[in-house]
Amino acid sequence: MSSTKSRKGLIFKLTLWMVVSIAAAFIAFIVISVGVLYSIVNAQLDHHVETVLNEAEVLWLKEPVGQNDLIQGLVASRGMVVVVLAPDGEVLLKTSSPEIDSSVVHKIKEHVATEQHDEHQSHIFTYKNMRLGVKFIGTKTPGEIIAVAYSFSPWLQAIRWYVASMVVLALLFIFGVGYFVHSLIRRSLMPITDVVNTVQNISTSGDLARRIPLTNRQDEVGMLIGVLNDMLSRLEQSLKAQQAFLSGAAHTIKTPLASMRTHLENLSSNGSDFSDVTTSIDRLSKVIDDMLYAVNVSSYKPKEEKVDLSGVVKDICELTSTLASAKGVKLQCKVKEGVFVKGDRNLLVRAILNIVENATYYTTKGEIEIVLDYEQKNVRLEVSDTGVGMSKEFLERAFERFSREESEANNNGTGLGLSITRDIIKAHGGEISIKSEKDVGTSVVIILPGAPS
Ligand SMILES: Nc1ncnc2c1ncn2[C@@H]1O[C@H](COP(=O)(O)OP(=O)(O)OP(=O)(O)O)[C@@H](O)[C@H]1O
Ligand SMILES: [Mg+2]
Repeated sequence: MSSTKSRKGLIFKLTLWMVVSIAAAFIAFIVISVGVLYSIVNAQLDHHVETVLNEAEVLWLKEPVGQNDLIQGLVASRGMVVVVLAPDGEVLLKTSSPEIDSSVVHKIKEHVATEQHDEHQSHIFTYKNMRLGVKFIGTKTPGEIIAVAYSFSPWLQAIRWYVASMVVLALLFIFGVGYFVHSLIRRSLMPITDVVNTVQNISTSGDLARRIPLTNRQDEVGMLIGVLNDMLSRLEQSLKAQQAFLSGAAHTIKTPLASMRTHLENLSSNGSDFSDVTTSIDRLSKVIDDMLYAVNVSSYKPKEEKVDLSGVVKDICELTSTLASAKGVKLQCKVKEGVFVKGDRNLLVRAILNIVENATYYTTKGEIEIVLDYEQKNVRLEVSDTGVGMSKEFLERAFERFSREESEANNNGTGLGLSITRDIIKAHGGEISIKSEKDVGTSVVIILPGAPS
């Protein structure tokens, strides 16, 4: 689950990084190209304005009033107007153009009145999407003023179209590349996800005999699989060696223990009482058995047989009812018929018996209730008692091996029962949890995946 999440996170981050880089490159390209385009257009406009200004001046100087038509013809088709003003501001000539409104005359007058001018130089500036060129005619001071206005709205419109189409193109490109990169990264990371999932399964099931399927990849992923499989082989070997060592040691200790017990029984038949010693020997044998069980069960792969859990729980109820009634504790069993799970019957008996035995041992008054039922697709077994309960501090380490809490009800157990039970339940794909309160009672809940009946 977490691996899928982190994979998604990684894919998202890599794709985002790619998309942001491409978007940044596009933005930079658009900004630079618009800047260059704008300066080229400006230079061209200024050149035009300057040329027309000079041509119109020549025509005006040749024949001031009669050249109206010539000047009009000069600029008519170019989206320009020419204005000639007398020194007192009177408009001597004004050609017309649909792109340029009459406020331009006012702007020219205002400009001439407020700005300093070199008498022989034209002065070009921008006003309302227009480039305006102004200059004094001839050498008379103050002379007539000639001005040319050139609308650059069409150019501006063209640049806007250019930017809009570049943005649309960029979006399409980013979307396409983003999708492509996303699926490419997802495909590249897929084997890593498989590796993580397999390792996670091995870790939760404790099945060290499993290996990550080999691929014929020669890249880092292939190397990673090889290294992990090597590590699993070594772990499996070391676990097997450990188990073999413990089994050997246990059998070596148990054989003399068994012969000691037989010897003591023979001596007892002569009237001597060795019951304390035989009890200690029995307890030692149980500890050894439990230790062996605890070591082996964590790496055990349960069978996949169909187990009638209702039958198992009912048998256990019957088995413990004698002990419970001997202690004056009421035992109630509410077992739903036909509850099945998949797994190993013997292991499940051991796990449930541990819990029910605990409830019986650590309860001196009140009652024990065992409830087995389905909970959606799962199976739920709850064993609750009104016994001595566990302290908060102990509850945190109740599943640790050899952990036991001193109480007057203590049965001199090994402290391995709960850890063995937890390992068995985990090996069956289930969960176990405990709720307990000191001097109030304990409730143990086991959830197992149900099997169809
Ligand atoms: N139902 C319960 N009520 C109160 N305390 C409990 C209960 N079940 C377990 N405990 C506490 O948890 C400890 C560990 O239980 P666990 O079953 O692992 O070991 P044990 O019962 O001591 O020995 P054994 O290995 O023989 O089962 C017990 O010693 C006891 O202190
Ligand atoms: Mg126990």
